[in-house]
Amino acid sequence: MRILSHLFRQNQEWAGNIRAQDPEFFQKLSCQQSPHYLWIGCSDSRVPANQIVGLLPGELFVHRNVANVVAHTDLNCLSTMQYAVDVLKVKHIIVCGHYGCGGVRAALRDDRLGLVDNWLRHVRDVYQKHEGQLTAIGEETQRWDRLCELNVIEQVLNVCQTTIVRDSWQRGQELAVHGWIYRVQDGLLRDVNICITQPHETGTAYRAALSGEQRPASRLSNGPPA
Ligand code: CO
Repeated sequence: MRILSHLFRQNQEWAGNIRAQDPEFFQKLSCQQSPHYLWIGCSDSRVPANQIVGLLPGELFVHRNVANVVAHTDLNCLSTMQYAVDVLKVKHIIVCGHYGCGGVRAALRDDRLGLVDNWLRHVRDVYQKHEGQLTAIGEETQRWDRLCELNVIEQVLNVCQTTIVRDSWQRGQELAVHGWIYRVQDGLLRDVNICITQPHETGTAYRAALSGEQRPASRLSNGPPA
């Protein structure tokens, strides 16, 4: 009980399965990591980054926090992003939210949960920025879904406004910032239709993503992200 032996046992099985497919896997991985993607997602246990996109260890650099927030002064997130962009030279930053996010719902309802309320204030700010659009949605689950999408769009914008991303674009480094959303109920990713590869695209892409405001979440495409 105290040493969680079942997790150690499962770890041995997992490592054994990978070695069975590629005996050199861990040895090669220990020499270097060269992921092409930085994933910024929610801490939610139902949204495991690597598994969703079918990537192995070494293929995805990951930062997760409650409600996939990119705050301009969060040294944890900024340091992860800076290392990913400047050192690992990832080519893509993916902000991935998810429908049914408890953090987003708490922000929507202005719930009092404790210290985390201060973190979720960033999502509450997103709510207030788009309050007109959100209050026009009568059904609460749809309003919640839309706030999950708007939160992704706003966090993509925040990524693009960091010195890290702006400097990389200025240097001519190839870097695309994507906004995706995951549905726990079906295990599928959707694109929220924002992908920015140059600073001058930011405003247009942001407005285009917001213009999907009348699109009910249930009608979103199930297709692969563009
Ligand atoms: Co969440």
